[in-house]
Order: sequence, then structure tokens, then C-alpha cells
Amino acid sequence: MTFLIHTYGCQMNVRDTEAVTALLVAAGHTPVALEAEADAIIVNSCSVRGKAEDKAIGKLRQLAAGKRKHPGRIVGAMGCMSQRLGPELFKLVPRLDFAAGTRSERHMPRLVAAAAAGAGRQLALGTVDDPEVPHLHQPGSMSAYVTVLLGCNRRCSYCIVPDVRGPEYSRPPSEILDEARALIAAGTSEITLLGQSVLNYGRTRDVWQGAPPSAGGYREPFPRLLEAVSALPGLRRLRFTSGHPSGCTEQLARAMRELPCVCAHLHLPVQSGSDRILGLMRRGYKAEDYVAAVARLRAAVPDCAITSDTIVGFPTETEADFEATRALMARVGFDNTFIFKYSPRPGTPAAEMADDVPAEVKEHRNRVLLEDQDRIGLALNEAWVGRVAEVLTEGPSLRNAARWAGRSSQNKIVIFAPRPGMAVNDLARVRVTRAKPQTLYGKLVEQGA
Ligand code: SAH
Ligand code: SF4
Ligand code: F3S
Repeated sequence: MTFLIHTYGCQMNVRDTEAVTALLVAAGHTPVALEAEADAIIVNSCSVRGKAEDKAIGKLRQLAAGKRKHPGRIVGAMGCMSQRLGPELFKLVPRLDFAAGTRSERHMPRLVAAAAAGAGRQLALGTVDDPEVPHLHQPGSMSAYVTVLLGCNRRCSYCIVPDVRGPEYSRPPSEILDEARALIAAGTSEITLLGQSVLNYGRTRDVWQGAPPSAGGYREPFPRLLEAVSALPGLRRLRFTSGHPSGCTEQLARAMRELPCVCAHLHLPVQSGSDRILGLMRRGYKAEDYVAAVARLRAAVPDCAITSDTIVGFPTETEADFEATRALMARVGFDNTFIFKYSPRPGTPAAEMADDVPAEVKEHRNRVLLEDQDRIGLALNEAWVGRVAEVLTEGPSLRNAARWAGRSSQNKIVIFAPRPGMAVNDLARVRVTRAKPQTLYGKLVEQGA
């Protein structure tokens, strides 16, 4: 059969889509790019905000309606929203053939086969005592995600992720290293280690099994994992996401400074700059703790880019709370911020509070932060003008095929004129000549690593 997966949500879902693609290919199916060519279409769904669910439901309904024109077409759902809704999803989308939750990627070939055989509605939800993680990847990708920590134990008051992805499970280092080795052997040069709160890796399970500190003197489980992965021959870049201030220890800062290939970037969502709101969010830190965490990283890696997520309009957020967020953003200077309007999620503690910030106020605060961020991001990017960035080359730029694009260690997009015979997946040095809020432009200094 031919199949197509539409992916919504975060990098976790992107990785799960890739794993399911590889599993379906191993089962003899063929991925296609166009819906019209697909015998089976799967929506990998996100639950993080109401809008994310509306999108996935809308897409599933549209695909199910398309069955009239494409008889025999199979429509399935997977991911966080199917996990949350379970059997309810078949009521919302009556012609849905199957739904798989989280932590159940490996059941997908069976579900697709059963649907094709006309077995009727199929449902496979993830369970917490089932930590088998698919390790297959689609070959030939320059940059790859490796999930190291499933689930999340933090339970921030607004967040549905712990409900849909379950409690934390840290994969054994040996499994992670085998997966990374296989990727490198297949041509991958950049690996991003994934976990919702990735610095919690190994904190709830003794993954290193009491072994003495590593060669580099790392005792904490996550810096140790960074050390082990970065030592793999052939790896050029190592990233990880997302961070939490409690994991920004001296050891993490030292690992980021000392280990080869570890990039100078951390996505460290702050969510709010108001201590009162941070408390209601149950984030486990105050604004000062956050600022101190960033200072520790920057003391070790002065060039380190810091990016963040912010929620506007959390219940009871006042103008003063909002101004505290603006002040913190100005003080830290984020290279980029993703701004979200608060959306109550059923069953979370915050959903018990009235969603009392009016939609137009959320909209206004969202706009103000976007403008602030553009200004701050531009100033930080302008500080790169005249400096040399190390760029992992990705190929011709989408906007202008005469230019090439790549990313710097700080994860900034860099556009430059290529040399004849320039190769993708190469480390190039580019002198930055011009900056925009989201992009740097420059001239090649020298090619190759
Ligand atoms: N694990 C990551 C975040 C995953 S969700 C972390 O904690 O760093 C991605 C972002 O969505 C969050 O950082 C938060 O800013 C936003 N988000 C989560 N729940 C939300 C909600 N109910 N309403 C609005 N935004 C939300
Ligand atoms: Fe959600 Fe908080 Fe866990 Fe992130 S750390 S996934 S925001 S509960
Ligand atoms: Fe969405 Fe699930 Fe990620 S809820 S943000 S796809 S973990």
C-alpha cells in the first residue's frame, strides 16, 4: 500500500512520524507525497492547545469525507490527541478507521493491515509500562532526532502533555548510543536529543547503574549522556531540547563548553516573567532563578543562543504580570521566542481556574511580545555582523536558488553565495554581512571542516 502521514505538533511528533514511516516501509508499504496517491492517510495529532485539536479534527473529517471520492481509502489518527480522546474520537470522526495513541508507534503496521482487511474500527492506546521505543529512522537525513526521554513528570498546571505522553521514562544509554551510531553510519551529521524536559534525563531512573563518574568527570546523568554521544566518531553536531532552569547546572554548562560538537543553543522556555504567574503555572522557579540559569550557561558559553516559549493570558494575568514578562524578555535577550495564547486544557489544574483574560487582551499581549521579540532578536542578530559563523550547509535556499542556506551552531538560519562544487552537509565558515530578525546573510570564508 501507499501511505501519507500529516504531522502536527512538536518535534516529538515529527520523530514519531519518522519512526512510523520507517516501520511501515519495513512492512512493505510505500510513502507518497500526495493525498491523491495514498491508500492510507494518517494524521499525527497534537493536543497542546484547543486550536491544535481543532486542526487535527478538521483534517480528519475532511479526509473521511474524501472517502466518497476515494473508496477503499484508509484514514487513521495517531499521537497526543488520539491518546487524549481515545474511543471518543470515533464519535467525532465516524468514518475513522483507526486511532493509535502515544507510545504505540510499533502497533501501526498491525493497525493499517487490520483496517485494510476490513476489520472495523481499531484502537491502540499507549500504556506507561511499555517502554519499547522504535529505533528505526528514514535513511539519508543529515539531521536527525533521537528521543531520549519519553513523557513528562513536571505537570505544569496548564499542560496536557503529562496526561497524553505519560510519566517519564529515560531510555538506557546503550540503546541511545546504538541508535546514534546507526544514524551516523547512514550519513547523519547532526543529532538532536529529544525530551519534553530533556535535562530530567536519568533523574527518575538510574540509567548509568551506579557507574563511577565518566572520563570527563561528569556525574549528572544528562551531561554524561552528552559526553557519550558527542564522542561518537563522525558526529559533527549535537543538540538537545527542551531545557528547564533546574537542569542548567554547572555540569551542564561545562559540558556545553568542553564537549566537541555540542552546539551553542538551548531552548529554555520561561513561560512568564511574573513570579505570581510562574507559581500558578507550577513551573518550579522564580524569574531570578531563570535569569541565574541563563547566566550560568552564558558564563561558560558566551555565544550561547537562548530561545524561549511564553504564554500570554494565563488565568488572572494582570497588566503588571505581563509587564514583568516584557521586562524579563528584555533583560535576558532571547534569540527567538514562541508566543502562545493560553488555552485551557481539560483535566489540567489551570482549567479549574476561570479563563478570565479576554480574547482581545490575549491577542494584544501576543502582538506586543512579537514586536518586542522582533526588535530584541534583530539586535542580537545584528551583533553577528562582521563575525564568522560556522554553518552546516543544507543546500539551495528555498527563496533564492542561487543562494545556499544552513544553520549556525546557535541554530540561526544563514544565507550565503555558494562556491562551485559546494557540498551539502559540510561545515562552512561564513562572515555575516547583514541581519534580519530570523535570518543572517553572509559571505563564505572557507569551505569544509
Ligand atoms: N516541554 C516543553 C514544552 C512543550 S509544549 C517545555 O516545557 O519546555 C510547548 C509550549 O506550548 C510550552 O512551552 C508552552 O509555552 C505552550 N503551551 C503548553 N500548554 C499550553 C496551553 N494550555 N495554552 C497555551 N500554551 C501552552
Ligand atoms: Fe508540559 Fe511543563 Fe512538561 Fe513542558 S515541562 S511538557 S510545559 S508539563
Ligand atoms: Fe503537542 Fe504532543 Fe508535542 S500535545 S506539543 S505533539 S507532546
